[in-house]
Amino acid sequence: MRVKVRPARQGLVGQLTVPGDKSLSHRAAILGGLAEGETRISNFLPGRDCLATLRILRQLGVGIDRLAPGEVVVKGRAGRLAEPEEVLDAANSGTTARLMLGVLAGQELGAVLTGDASLRRRPMGRVTGPLSRMGAKFLGRAGGDRLPLAVEGCRRLAASKFVLPVASAQVKSALLLAGLQAEGVTRVAEPAASRDHTERLLPSFGWPVEREAPTVVAVRGPARLHGCRVAVPGDLSSALFFAVAATLVPGSCLRLAHVGLNPTRTGALGVLRRMGAELELTDWREENGEPRGTLVVYSAALEATEVRPEEVPALIDEIPVLAVAAAQARGTTVFRGVGELRNKETDRLAALEQELRRLGVVAQAEGDTLTVTGGRLRGGLGRSHGDHRIAMALAVAGLASAEGVEVAGAECVEVSFPGFFDLLGVAAPGSV
Ligand code: S3P
Repeated sequence: MRVKVRPARQGLVGQLTVPGDKSLSHRAAILGGLAEGETRISNFLPGRDCLATLRILRQLGVGIDRLAPGEVVVKGRAGRLAEPEEVLDAANSGTTARLMLGVLAGQELGAVLTGDASLRRRPMGRVTGPLSRMGAKFLGRAGGDRLPLAVEGCRRLAASKFVLPVASAQVKSALLLAGLQAEGVTRVAEPAASRDHTERLLPSFGWPVEREAPTVVAVRGPARLHGCRVAVPGDLSSALFFAVAATLVPGSCLRLAHVGLNPTRTGALGVLRRMGAELELTDWREENGEPRGTLVVYSAALEATEVRPEEVPALIDEIPVLAVAAAQARGTTVFRGVGELRNKETDRLAALEQELRRLGVVAQAEGDTLTVTGGRLRGGLGRSHGDHRIAMALAVAGLASAEGVEVAGAECVEVSFPGFFDLLGVAAPGSV
């Protein structure tokens, strides 16, 4: 599908709510599946990734009622999942694949997990390696590094201590999910703090998590989780596409209501402020351990900046849209230490270099550094590379460009942001 996004004729004005947080929706459903009793999730993200998680949970015997697209009731199996008869398909979702590997590791069953062509290229050894040390068995391509993978779980996993080489919330969460099913304390240390939704959500299910340091977390198993209510805030990563659009289009004043403001996710707000963006946060409150509030964005002229490696974990998913902000800033922005982007739904560094160049922008991806020089966003045809965040970043570029951007392969936005183009048309009338 191709969608043409024309330059915005007027500022983005008004109030929007974006769909629920992807990371939290996955975790609420998975923990609900392992818990005893019912878990009621409101504002669950009905995007393709999270629907893949629900489908897999159903195949593992978990009862799931969808009362409305975002209202989900999960009937947990008190720690014992059923052996699936068919192959489990995580589709495009790295979070589904890695977190479910952590779950399956602790179950007495055999299962085969696969995904789409993009997911089958992504590394899984970062979870299967440590999970094997706990006692689970994996058989698959590249020594267990690539899907499809056959899993033989183990009901007596050995609790272990891990020091991760990369900051990854998917890996950390997979190990914590296995740790909940192991005998004793499982401890995970990361080189930098990655998103901590699993840790914040577990107490709602009645199970404590120990934070031994900002980058060290431990759980004791075997856990008895109790079903609960989870209110998912809007996804800040989705809201940021609109926040950057409002910043770049003159005359904007946009309120993005009820978005998640977990500090391990807000790195892009700091970078945008440093570039000159005018952002305000109001209506703060906390539920299920997760802060949330309203983000108000006014248009502003941006200056280039340098994004440091230690900032990256808290803005890992925002680099595509920050690169578009950089394409309209004065000067050259440098993103350092962003090599992990090569392991996402596509090689996002290569995709950003190629697509920004096609739109007239001076951009270069070399090793784990991306540089973008602002001021020459002409427009043209941009390809999504099958990656939802590249597609949405290109759409934002279209609004701010001289000639508009035609986004090819636009359907992949459904992975994390169903209805993205409709909402863009509401925020910027006449542009889509
Ligand atoms: C996620 C973790 C991040 C992020 C992804 C969602 C999660 O991946 O990019 O979109 O929900 O745990 P990594 O753990 O690979 O950094």
